[in-house]
Amino acid sequence: MTNEVYYPNPKLSKEARIKSMDEYWQLQNSAKKDYEGFWKKYADEKIEWLAPYSKVLDESNAPFYKWFIDGKLNVCNQCVDRHLEKRGDKVAILFEGDRGDIRKITYKELSQEVNRFANLLKEDFGIKKGDRVVLYMPMIPEAAFAMLACARIGAIHSVVFGGFSAEALKDRIEDAKAKLVITADGAYRKGKPYMLKPVVDEALEQGGDSVEKVLVVKRNNEEINLVEGRDYIYNDLIKDKSTECEFEVMDSEDPLFLLYTSGSTGKPKGVQHSQAGYILWAQMTMEWVFDIKEEDVYWCTADIGWITGHTYIVYGPLAAGATTVMFEGVPTYPDAGRAWKMVEAHKITQFYTAPTAIRVLHKMGEDEPKKYDLSSLKILGTVGEPIDPIAWKWYYEVVGRGECAIVDTWWQTETGGHMISPLPGATPIKPGSATFPLPGIMAEIIDENGNKPKVGETGLLCITKPWPSMIRTIWGDDERFIKSYFSTAKKDGKPVYFSGDGAMYDEDGYIWITGRVDDVINVSGHRLGTAEIEAAVKEDSHIAEVAAIGVPHPIKGESIFIYVVLKDEVELENVKEHVNEILASEIGNIAKADDIVAVPGLPKTRSGKVMRRILRSIARGEEIKQDVSTLEDPGVVEEIKKCVKDAKK
Ligand code: WT7
Repeated sequence: MTNEVYYPNPKLSKEARIKSMDEYWQLQNSAKKDYEGFWKKYADEKIEWLAPYSKVLDESNAPFYKWFIDGKLNVCNQCVDRHLEKRGDKVAILFEGDRGDIRKITYKELSQEVNRFANLLKEDFGIKKGDRVVLYMPMIPEAAFAMLACARIGAIHSVVFGGFSAEALKDRIEDAKAKLVITADGAYRKGKPYMLKPVVDEALEQGGDSVEKVLVVKRNNEEINLVEGRDYIYNDLIKDKSTECEFEVMDSEDPLFLLYTSGSTGKPKGVQHSQAGYILWAQMTMEWVFDIKEEDVYWCTADIGWITGHTYIVYGPLAAGATTVMFEGVPTYPDAGRAWKMVEAHKITQFYTAPTAIRVLHKMGEDEPKKYDLSSLKILGTVGEPIDPIAWKWYYEVVGRGECAIVDTWWQTETGGHMISPLPGATPIKPGSATFPLPGIMAEIIDENGNKPKVGETGLLCITKPWPSMIRTIWGDDERFIKSYFSTAKKDGKPVYFSGDGAMYDEDGYIWITGRVDDVINVSGHRLGTAEIEAAVKEDSHIAEVAAIGVPHPIKGESIFIYVVLKDEVELENVKEHVNEILASEIGNIAKADDIVAVPGLPKTRSGKVMRRILRSIARGEEIKQDVSTLEDPGVVEEIKKCVKDAKK
């Protein structure tokens, strides 16, 4: 924690929607006084309702909260159609390919593309309201068209990150019982083509029997296998589709999409989001946190396979009528100046990325930003993990020339949009702190019983009132929803949403996120459950026991450290390679571990419980504070330490 304070640039404050902390507190206090009234005001102002709602918030079946009861709308209309009159010729999506190819798609063109896509889904694939469609897509405009087309006809999309393996894809298809998979032959990364379609083929060989058809968008034109009667080429079918397509009238609470994320047990959770509440907050946070203006060119570097890509590349920016940049490649190719070159070329005004990316760009090209004209930048965003002061200062001073606001946005797949963040024109910033909850969001640090911890003491980061863009349930598993989020903490005797993160207040009431308190590892801002990793490794015939731990990593934030106990008589020449192959095939390359150490046994209590804290201390090279004498075999600790030491050599 630092007490350095950076005050907002007065020029930004002057133009901002929320100009001062006084205004912030006024808003937040008005929400506290009349919570429903607060949300009603914005819902009425922002959403194009097709039929009015009868009630703002229904708490009768808590924690299955409902928002804007009986209201009717269409999210695609909210993001596309309603802009046509005013912004038809404005660029909606500015696409830059890995190799520098550029496509500018206006709102009018977006409308036509999405309508054709929606017609294709309905006419050729029989997709109807409520059907699940899995997207396994690269970062190309067609991915956004597909999402919006689903929203238009009321189909529920589930985007699976392109880095996940066939096995992981199959699991997600099966959990959602998807009827259709939309994919691409592949795309380009670092100047070279890579493939996606073969992964879909493999997934469907392994299972995913609910899938009737596969739609393939051609991007890199590499050779692919087509299964007759199952696989179809988008580029052929789309040509003769009409650019007119009426949108489905959706209820506020109909599901909009599912997005799978890791939790503390083995199976990923299908986080279910709604229509009205989600899109309302996506748009409001674009306006408050990014203070998006009509002429702005906004760029978020996330992948559409994550919630950041959903809310802050597609839905939020388009609902706000903005120009959103979509980038196929990586910011370090062909060199560490690529991102800054793009900022200069497109006159980017808001740039939103993850601390990992900032650290990589810093490391690879400390002075690189100075070679480009970055004067268009006004607001810099960060998300995914706490940002360290070194990365923060470089971002602020070198990328932002000391003139930009840095918005450190804390939120989660489950929250749908930003929860805690500075407001660029109002909040005095302390580097590394996400500062204060946004207006209307009752984020609080409490203990299990709802008491506020002392300054500097870690507590549970909770959201003590329902909010419009919150997770509605875990797809097909209401019980797990309650157990995961509403069974840890209570306030005034009522269960409240617990995020899984720890956090503390400083003496000025600033919020400092300390990281996950559950068994979730955050690698480069991506969530992985230790249980999920362990389940994958345990399936292997060579391995008797496994424990996965997160350890601090200078670039990635955290990296994965795995202990394995081999079965008796098993000899493995290269344990690390072997285990990482399993992880790559069961989950994906993002789940590969930096450290894998074979040990003779795990430290267990007499009742057989693995003492993860001891393993964590050893992996992190920290002193062991627990009493080891109560272990079933206290000697194992020294043996493990020795194995770790040998492995480090
Ligand atoms: C977890 C959510 C939401 C977008 C990306 C990740 C961590 C997120 C911050 C931040 C400190 C952060 C938390 C959270 N996290 N933003 N600004 N400061 N930690 O989404 O995969 O759902 O992960 O990311 O631990 O719980 P996600």
